[in-house]
Amino acid sequence: MSLKYGNVVEELYKLVWPTPLKLFTAGPVACFPEVLEVMKFQMFSHRSKEYRELHKDTVERLAKFAEVREGTVLLFPSSGTGVMEASVRNFITPNGSVLVTVIGEFGSRYREVVESNGRKPIVLEKGAGEPVLPEDLDEALTKHPEVEAVTITYNETSTGVLNPLKELAQVAKKHGKLVFVDAVSAMGAADIKFDEWGLDVVFTSSQKAFGVPPGLAIGIFSKEALKKAESIPNRGWYFDVLKYVHYQEKEWSTPSTPPIPQIIGINAMLRVVDLMGGKHAWLNMYLERAEMVRSGVKNLGLELFARKGYESPTITAVKAPQGIDGYEIYSRMKARGYELAAGYGKFKKTSFRIGHMGYMPKEYIEEMLQNLKEVLNELRR
Ligand SMILES: Cc1ncc(COP(=O)(O)O)c(C=O)c1O
Repeated sequence: MSLKYGNVVEELYKLVWPTPLKLFTAGPVACFPEVLEVMKFQMFSHRSKEYRELHKDTVERLAKFAEVREGTVLLFPSSGTGVMEASVRNFITPNGSVLVTVIGEFGSRYREVVESNGRKPIVLEKGAGEPVLPEDLDEALTKHPEVEAVTITYNETSTGVLNPLKELAQVAKKHGKLVFVDAVSAMGAADIKFDEWGLDVVFTSSQKAFGVPPGLAIGIFSKEALKKAESIPNRGWYFDVLKYVHYQEKEWSTPSTPPIPQIIGINAMLRVVDLMGGKHAWLNMYLERAEMVRSGVKNLGLELFARKGYESPTITAVKAPQGIDGYEIYSRMKARGYELAAGYGKFKKTSFRIGHMGYMPKEYIEEMLQNLKEVLNELRR
């Protein structure tokens, strides 16, 4: 296709990509070339037969990936936080309470979302770098039998900690609670067995471990949660989960216009996963990458934030060496063409993070680690 107004493309490219960068970000992350290629397709109606086929195929592939048999996978035109809010508005009674587990910034966001939607958060908080352990949750639920649900950040992006989701869900179920999982930076890299683990709400965003541009959120809902939603008043319109179920059942579509390019993009990635040998081969790729980054930074004499045994497969948070500003490390790496993620919130100066999601050939990791070594040598001088 020839471009009549090609300079628009050039101008914008210069605006957003003034210099080339290899991304080690927390998200949006670099997309696989296949994703960028299919997202160029011309648009078509979301009420067409073709869209219905795309939607159904994408939902079925996602269900297979997250091992969903009884639950329902839905697609939302939003980022992941939209479904975080939907979990509160659809499944918690007005004025009801929720046990919110907090191990970093995104657990704190869930607490704010609960509160700003008129529900009561009861917070179980652990220190930075620590996971929530099953015994912590058991104790909190014994103290607070009134809560209707527990929220768990599967992977806390601000500290690079992976919570033991399967074990935590088991405890929550023993107490008869709904389990809401923020899997924004986990799904696609850390395993999820939706039915087997007894999860009720799981959500993720397209711009993380699947390596697709932002704009699509995926939500998975249990039968029990959907049944409960029927009795919850004022679920809103845009994020009324039952409305999404209705449209999906009626016509494999969504109540409002969906982000079609992102849906095509994620469908492409799920096909790539199959071609790479299936979910386990894909998850192993993530484990290998994470191990490569972790051992690389440890070899440079650096310490990780996460407690041993709970390190994230998608992002490594690293403590800046004594006397060196973590943000300076981030800035110097960017100047060399490697965009890491700065330390999050209050850890901006004392840490930096290395994301390992999306398109990332092994050579990029090797190069990045070599440059990190040089930057640290400069700063230690
Ligand atoms: C764990 C976690 N939860 C929630 C969010 C928010 O997701 P979104 O920006 O897609 O709304 C993020 C984004 O980085 C995240 O890492």
